[in-house]
Amino acid sequence: MLATENLMKEHQLILKYVDLMERYAKFSLKHPDTPVLMERAAGFIEFIHEFADHFHHAKEEDILFRYLGSPGVLTHCNPVPQMLMEHDKGREYVRNMERALQAKELNDLADNAVQYARLLKEHIYKEDNILYPMGENGLSDEAKTALLEEYAETDRRLNSPSLWNKYETFYTELELGLDTLAD
Ligand SMILES: [Fe+2]
Ligand SMILES: [Fe+2]
Repeated sequence: MLATENLMKEHQLILKYVDLMERYAKFSLKHPDTPVLMERAAGFIEFIHEFADHFHHAKEEDILFRYLGSPGVLTHCNPVPQMLMEHDKGREYVRNMERALQAKELNDLADNAVQYARLLKEHIYKEDNILYPMGENGLSDEAKTALLEEYAETDRRLNSPSLWNKYETFYTELELGLDTLAD
């Protein structure tokens, strides 16, 4: 039984968004007369708040990390404090993006968007390849069952199917928006 399959699936959508946001940032810097990032930043920020942070990071921080902190689960080292620090660093980049968007500072906005994307790509790589496998090895079957029940409860509370639907649709729209512009 896998306790982290759900979270890895969420990572895939987050990676798609941050990669696209990075492409928007680079395009906008190259074509300051068409600052598409400025027009779309509010949408990216909404995804980050609602899906990456509230939905995904909350599941990690409130559920998975708590289980990983139980005695005997992580025996060699504990990467959780580093992961929490990276979540906070990501929130700082997003706050900077919000400030830059309000002030209409394209360079600052694009710079923080790129930094956020890089941080998240590395962060997700570490979780997928180091932290989650440690959890799969260390958690008992009973703990995994209880953890999956808590995820299911969070999915119900936050209406997971409508969230997925909304952000998969929105991604297609955002991707099309960039593809129609000549590079
Ligand atoms: Fe994380
Ligand atoms: Fe994650």
